Amino acid sequence: MIETILKKSESSPLNQAEIVTLLSAEGSDLELLFDTAAEVKARYVGQNVYLRGLIEYSNKCIKNCKYCGVRRGNSHVIRYEMSHDEVIEVAKYAQRRKFGSLVIQSGERTDQKFVSTISSLLQEIRTLSNGELHVTLSVGEQTEEVYKTWVDAGAHRFLLRIEATNRALYEQIHPVDATHDFDKRIAAIHALRRAGFQVGTGVMIGLPNQTLEDLAGDLLFMQQIDIDMCGMGPYIEHEETPLYAQKELLMPLQERFNLSLKMVAILRILMKNINIAATTAMQAIDDEGREKAIRCGANVVMPNLTPLKYREEYFLYNNKPGVADDADTGLDVMKKNIEAAGCRIAFGEWGDSEHYNARTTN
Ligand code: 5AD
Ligand code: SF4
Repeated sequence: MIETILKKSESSPLNQAEIVTLLSAEGSDLELLFDTAAEVKARYVGQNVYLRGLIEYSNKCIKNCKYCGVRRGNSHVIRYEMSHDEVIEVAKYAQRRKFGSLVIQSGERTDQKFVSTISSLLQEIRTLSNGELHVTLSVGEQTEEVYKTWVDAGAHRFLLRIEATNRALYEQIHPVDATHDFDKRIAAIHALRRAGFQVGTGVMIGLPNQTLEDLAGDLLFMQQIDIDMCGMGPYIEHEETPLYAQKELLMPLQERFNLSLKMVAILRILMKNINIAATTAMQAIDDEGREKAIRCGANVVMPNLTPLKYREEYFLYNNKPGVADDADTGLDVMKKNIEAAGCRIAFGEWGDSEHYNARTTN
């Protein structure tokens, strides 16, 4: 059964039922799934692992997502915003360590001051690095004009997770109001593409009431909108959020982790030449989460370069790792582990997705 589906995936798209079968794989079937993903990865994108230095720029957020520790309604969070100079220091560090690219991530804000601060950071990073550092933004829903402004200011990629593509599930994990509108989020992903970004999305895996059919639907959505990159990982509950009340419905953390690995492997098989991140949430559950994800399809890692004094306040979920790691130690350990997984870190490379290169040169 699994063999037939994997064989079919070489030349044709898979349907939802087939993806559900893959998501249910266990034992030797699961090994076959992971091995196939590893082969597809080697064939289509090679063994390079690209670095994105993560800057958690600010935890100020206008949204109230029910799963997230830094939601607007959490009054225990001390809100911060890195200064211009602090961001630039990190960018210089990333360039010295030959990162090739940065991710600027932040809680969502749409005010003019935020928009112009991001623009000026982008311009300065472009100038100081002589265009050597590429920047991914992960700063939420904005108008198409704002997205275009940021492309002009020098941003290359944008990650906007849809979080859950089943509308009913999306509405269970977000307040149902104009700030958290499902259709607007989908529209924003399309606007990113029109604005000229390499576009990434992603979902959370193991949410309360989420089914394998939902997850298969998530993967089909990614295929249908033709993303260039993906960052997805397990949902991890946080006590100070409304969704915590549903923790009895959750599968054990290790199962959420295993399901996330399957999602990575299947996405690699479905979308052979995109970039897929080994996400922090995977590392939060398993000390070798990152390497395991790399072995079965991921090709991007995002070492956290946020200054230590802010990290505790960017607490999206429990056990978020690296709150006390300094960047140098983290990087050395990561390099060893990635090599042990048979891959190599591609220092100094932008690491644009092959998918993006192919769609823009044709
Ligand atoms: N568990 C896992 N991921 C989370 N995120 C936010 N809260 C959680 C959580 N509790 C993810 C969301 C968001 C990204 C910044 O972090 O997918 O898009
Ligand atoms: Fe804000 Fe993002 Fe958290 Fe939602 S997930 S509350 S948008 S930081």
